[in-house]
Amino acid sequence: MRILQATSEFFPYSKTGGLADMVAGLSGALTELGEDVTVATPLYRGIREQVPDLKPFGPKVILPLGKQTFTGRWWKATKSNGLTLLFLEQEGFYDRPGLYMANGDGYWDNPERFMFLSKAVAQLAGEYDVVHVHDWQTAFVPMLLRASGSRVIPRTVLTIHNLAYQGQCEATRFEITNLPWNWFHSEGPEFWGSLNFLKAGLHYADAITTVSPQYAKEIITPEFGEGLEGVLQSRQDVFFGILNGVDYGEWNTVENQYLAASYDADDLSGKKVCKQFLQSKFGLPVSDVPMFGMVSRLAEQKGIDVLSKALGGILCEKEIQFVGLGSGDDQLAEELHSLKERFPKQVGFENGYCNALAHQIEAGADYFVMPSRFEPCGLNQMYSLRYGTIPIVNGVGGLIDTVQDVANQQATGLVLNRLTVRALTESFKKACDIHGSVQSLEILKRGMRAEYGWGNSSNQYLRCYQ
Ligand code: ADP
Ligand code: GLC
Repeated sequence: MRILQATSEFFPYSKTGGLADMVAGLSGALTELGEDVTVATPLYRGIREQVPDLKPFGPKVILPLGKQTFTGRWWKATKSNGLTLLFLEQEGFYDRPGLYMANGDGYWDNPERFMFLSKAVAQLAGEYDVVHVHDWQTAFVPMLLRASGSRVIPRTVLTIHNLAYQGQCEATRFEITNLPWNWFHSEGPEFWGSLNFLKAGLHYADAITTVSPQYAKEIITPEFGEGLEGVLQSRQDVFFGILNGVDYGEWNTVENQYLAASYDADDLSGKKVCKQFLQSKFGLPVSDVPMFGMVSRLAEQKGIDVLSKALGGILCEKEIQFVGLGSGDDQLAEELHSLKERFPKQVGFENGYCNALAHQIEAGADYFVMPSRFEPCGLNQMYSLRYGTIPIVNGVGGLIDTVQDVANQQATGLVLNRLTVRALTESFKKACDIHGSVQSLEILKRGMRAEYGWGNSSNQYLRCYQ
């Protein structure tokens, strides 16, 4: 099957979160299954230097966005596993400091930037059997294909990675589609009078998936549906939850350039070295106190406000350490900074983005905290399972699908019933109680042996494509 993946992020070239890892992991797994996979994504600043063998691909891409016309070009590279990469160059749109924002503000022309990408992808689509688009940034492709009037159009799949981001903007922006206004209707991209990129995809994609079975159940309800639950309900016959896989080639403790020592479930001595390395790195005393780790986008979704409050209490009460890495919201970063100032011997926090440090925290901490308000899938909890770092998670979305609570015979972590400061504090206390015990060693080892690779999930995507 010829499959085109269209995405605004692709690891290792561009990443702000799990989307980049997911599309890279899925594309690699499908290629290994013998499928012919191409990934189309923007040529952001810095990518050209990372992929020196880029070759121009096809004619120039000349596309209207409303009354203006923009010119771009595809650049092609082939990875050693046979995966084809197509990077869309358009200097004005993609050669910028951030993927979606600078200095905390989203770029005002994000709708134009990703409409350009979507139109360029739609032009390529005829060469493929299936076009798989991800999130709002490429969700317009199915509708553009339908509106193109071509007799033969490929099948389309839209994956929702996070319903909180819909690409919503004022209705006048619809002119950048260059479609007649009769396409701006409530069975398409119109949403309470505004233009909604994701909704266009929800109506026009042949199939819709999201990134865990539990989130698929949640988002057809008003509590998690972000106003689109009705649309999702109307498409339930073609809507599936498929759990994301982990790329264990990237995320493992045995062969990992970022870790101070390697280890596995049979010999955990290297994990101690990783903990000491992390303590030294953050200038914390080297000791065996329980250490809690976090790597996260700093966003409302992730419950960082609740985490800061719970930490503020437990740090006074118990001899524990916390190390965090995150970027995003300034207010949330400030809360974590002030914890570091109040408890300099117990707290380390780095405000920024660093892949190496993400691995080091996953490996060095004893517990990994994810108090998300909602979590479509979540990858970090699966990484922490493999790294022998017991996850403490709120019981929502993919977190429920992947972590078994300590009350369970097959426990792999601690799962909150609801997200409150008190509940999170209780699970911190529980974690302190079991720290170093036989019970915690069993939980940790069970987690390390759990399998969340792409094998099963990539086959589910194949069945969906078929
Ligand atoms: P989301 O996509 O909602 O941010 P996921 O858990 O699916 O959440 O994926 C997050 C991914 O981004 C993980 O690979 C995580 O390690 C990485 N990540 C998040 N924040 C940072 C950061 N500040 N530095 C490095 N990696 C980060
Ligand atoms: C989104 C979600 C996250 C998911 C990731 C990859 O960013 O917030 O839960 O793991 O996409 O699908």
